[in-house]
Amino acid sequence: MKTEALNIEDVRKLARRRLPRGIFEYIDRGAEDEIGLAGLRHAFDAVTFNPRILADVSQRDLSTTLLGRKQPLPLAIAPTAAAGLVWHEGEIALARAAARAGIPFCIATGSITAMERIAAASNGPLWFQLYMWHERALSFELIERARKNGIETLVLTADTVATPNREYNTRNGFEIPIRASLSGGLDMLSHPRWVWQVLLRYIRAGGIPTYQHYPPGFRSRITRKATWEQVRLTDAMTWDDLRELRQRWNGKLVLKGVLRAEDARKAVEAGVDAIVVTSHGARNLDGAIAPIRALPAIAEAVGGRIGIIADSGVRRGSDILKLLALGADSVMIGRAALYGTAAAGEAGATHALTLLRNEMLAALGFLGCANLRELDTSFVNTPS
Ligand SMILES: Cc1cc2nc3c(=O)[nH]c(=O)nc-3n(C[C@H](O)[C@H](O)[C@H](O)COP(=O)(O)O)c2cc1C
Repeated sequence: MKTEALNIEDVRKLARRRLPRGIFEYIDRGAEDEIGLAGLRHAFDAVTFNPRILADVSQRDLSTTLLGRKQPLPLAIAPTAAAGLVWHEGEIALARAAARAGIPFCIATGSITAMERIAAASNGPLWFQLYMWHERALSFELIERARKNGIETLVLTADTVATPNREYNTRNGFEIPIRASLSGGLDMLSHPRWVWQVLLRYIRAGGIPTYQHYPPGFRSRITRKATWEQVRLTDAMTWDDLRELRQRWNGKLVLKGVLRAEDARKAVEAGVDAIVVTSHGARNLDGAIAPIRALPAIAEAVGGRIGIIADSGVRRGSDILKLLALGADSVMIGRAALYGTAAAGEAGATHALTLLRNEMLAALGFLGCANLRELDTSFVNTPS
């Protein structure tokens, strides 16, 4: 990893150079007019700090307990479908970087690398993100597979009931199926390192990448459209489904996609162990509220009864501390770690996490806090 990458924006630029445009925009951009994406940055910037002075911060500690497990950083790696397209078996690179940092890695339903391979190649805590399919029985088989692979935490994503409108993917030919086009071909040819180190390695090892968590009969190549009704993401999921999942899954259960206090309250009643307050990185509903703005009301509704994880738009360690001060117990990192993976695989993802860690350590010191338990709402000002 080049030392010129001094912050996540630098890492993002390295990723942009390395990846074909279609893939870079797929990971980097938002939905529709990307007002939500710009809003994430504005929302973080609108929160300011009230630093405390003359507090001994010589021994700063970023450790926390997440879902009953003590870890050195208040972070987890978010599930990102097709992470294996930014680096050969990018999911393994992410899992190893997470393990090295002592934080969980959440495997996506839309992973290019099978959970069996990820579990064999890394020794850190693994979570599994579930997209519920139209045919529930197939999803239940998938969580059985997760259980057999030692996955301890299941994350149900509830905010993706429609196909997000991302017009740049259509223009870039990066819809599933990926269309062969002259511009797409030129895009790839102008990124020979990616062709050589990612695409050709898959092809040499057996062909075009596929979604490894789809049932064998429904496992389309990424170049072919999956038209099977059975594995369409359901748009009919309700709180009853969540309760049924709670019955079936004995491990930790996390509900991802909460932005309303009343939904947070219902999640507590349904018996989940944590919620993820997220706008899906502003990739789904453009104009959805930024999680940092939704957090205070949600934290109040939850009242410490279950864990609160937050994500979307984190680019600096200080962003993480703002989320923690406003009620999150930990934070998920999506694109920042993907940029690192795209730039340099496991070392790149590790570099991105290290940047965030060092920024957090400095900001915590400036705030006059020695550990994360001291952080509370008195350290931040939110716009009215
Ligand atoms: C390329 C990409 C793919 C994603 N795929 C999924 C997914 O399959 N399931 C899911 O729950 N969230 C998915 N997400 C959302 C992330 O889990 C997370 O909520 C979001 O990326 C956080 O914002 P950040 O990327 O700005 O950190 C994806 C995000 C990205 C960038």
